[in-house]
Amino acid sequence: MWKTTTVILVITIGIAFLFRSNPVTEIPNLPETFWGPEKNKGASKEIRPFVINISKSVIDDLNERLAKRRELVEPLEDAAWTYGISSTYLKDILEYWQTKYNWSQRQALLNKYPQYVTNVQGLDIHFYHVKPHIPPERKNIKVLPLLISHGWPGSVVEFQKILPILTTPRPDKDFVFEVIAPSLPGYGFSQAAVRPGMGPAQISVVFKNLMLRLGFKKFYVQGGDWGSAISAHLAALFPDNVFGGHLNMCMGIMSKSNLFWRLLGAFIPSLVVESEHYSKMYPLGSHLSYILEESGYMHLQATKPDTIGTAVAASPAGLAGYILEKFSTWTNKEYKSRADGGLLEKFTLDELLDNIMLYWVTNSLTTSVRLYSENFSAKHYKTKIDELQINVPMACAVFPHELFYQPESLLHDKYTNLIQFNHLSRGGHFAAFEEPALLADDVFEFVSKVEDIKKKTSNKDMPNAGKKIKKPIKI
Ligand SMILES: *[C@@H]1O[C@H](CO)[C@@H](O)[C@H](O)[C@H]1NC(C)=O
Ligand SMILES: *[C@@H]1O[C@H](CO)[C@@H](O)[C@H](O)[C@H]1NC(C)=O
Ligand SMILES: *[C@@H]1O[C@H](CO)[C@@H](O)[C@H](O)[C@H]1NC(C)=O
Repeated sequence: MWKTTTVILVITIGIAFLFRSNPVTEIPNLPETFWGPEKNKGASKEIRPFVINISKSVIDDLNERLAKRRELVEPLEDAAWTYGISSTYLKDILEYWQTKYNWSQRQALLNKYPQYVTNVQGLDIHFYHVKPHIPPERKNIKVLPLLISHGWPGSVVEFQKILPILTTPRPDKDFVFEVIAPSLPGYGFSQAAVRPGMGPAQISVVFKNLMLRLGFKKFYVQGGDWGSAISAHLAALFPDNVFGGHLNMCMGIMSKSNLFWRLLGAFIPSLVVESEHYSKMYPLGSHLSYILEESGYMHLQATKPDTIGTAVAASPAGLAGYILEKFSTWTNKEYKSRADGGLLEKFTLDELLDNIMLYWVTNSLTTSVRLYSENFSAKHYKTKIDELQINVPMACAVFPHELFYQPESLLHDKYTNLIQFNHLSRGGHFAAFEEPALLADDVFEFVSKVEDIKKKTSNKDMPNAGKKIKKPIKI
């Protein structure tokens, strides 16, 4: 018995060596593409204050559509959200949107923090720029720039609750953040590229240029969903501009070796994941069927974004149904068996509708979903940018209901300097929106560590501090 196991083990480890990943270490030089329409050539580089102010005609038009909406098809008996959004529940939401949701009030709330627009590489990029309020007795506190990036189907609405937390000094920390939260190009009030090719890596170039425009040569990055891909690319491509990155959806390298270890873990889980997190990855069969069940949208958006975009954006009901389903399942996959989709567990209807409004009033659903096509294109795949190693300090915050789980053991080949890997106690995919305080605590903890390392490295006695905290698991 032991003999066979040993033989199997030796063979598999042998195969693992054959399959070991070769992360890309040479940093490619991405072009500073001009993404905007011709008429933006020669656009001024000034930073213009921005206030959300949607014209009455757009809101009247929306209300007319809500009033004249088509009857929704009755759901199957007791189906809850298992066939997609429950039309019974959606009907209530549309009713609320039409009769109770007050845009002028909500718009005023979204205008609470200062916003700006500036033209970068031909695109008007919208962003919040929130400076900390520092009381006189803390005037020596360090102010660190932090770029936070959202994903799909989110928007800067997700950050409304975390902005004040990140910009408020803490008694036990000698730093606080100055936060820059841009809308991704093609999302909300940021213009969309007019030609193909703008994937997350290209967005990271635009955001690096945005930060340079604002006078920040070096800064921290944070993100979830696409924001985590963009933040990771920033850290990989521009290590001289990034102090460190905090991600609430860490992606490893999708290499043969990663796949191999995942498969091997199905037989000997302890080689891949701690037993308490076993159920986040295995049994493999049920995880694969879960991924198939929940990722149909991705295939559509990655292949026919303009078709699905046209259908979804055609009516307020379509847009709300499509987006809200994600806010149910991605907060907690169990919620789809509930009649209300668990939507109000973590969010208010008003804030969910704020996010939908950003897509509606800017008509940006189609341009937002094109990001999937750009990322999953053969052209992007060939660049191997996703396999690029990240050497600056990084942190992964793992929320228990995140969509899929990357164990720490499979992350070290990409993140060679992973100094923090925390399992958080509550929350799902929309961490900033669901659990702003938990996420902010984790960011403060990470940045504390990086700042300590910076202090030590500036001390000549410790030339290697900050290089590698944890030895990467080499296979
Ligand atoms: C929006 O624009 C209108 C018309 O230009 C103006 O009267 C109103 O004060 C503006 N509202 C905000 C919030 O800036
Ligand atoms: C919406 O809110 C604004 C500002 O608080 C208020 O003046 C207005 O009466 C409200 N509209 C409705 C229909 O309640
Ligand atoms: C983007 O595409 C690459 C393959 O080119 C894949 O490895 C990666 O997971 C994708 N990113 C996201 C956020 O889906």
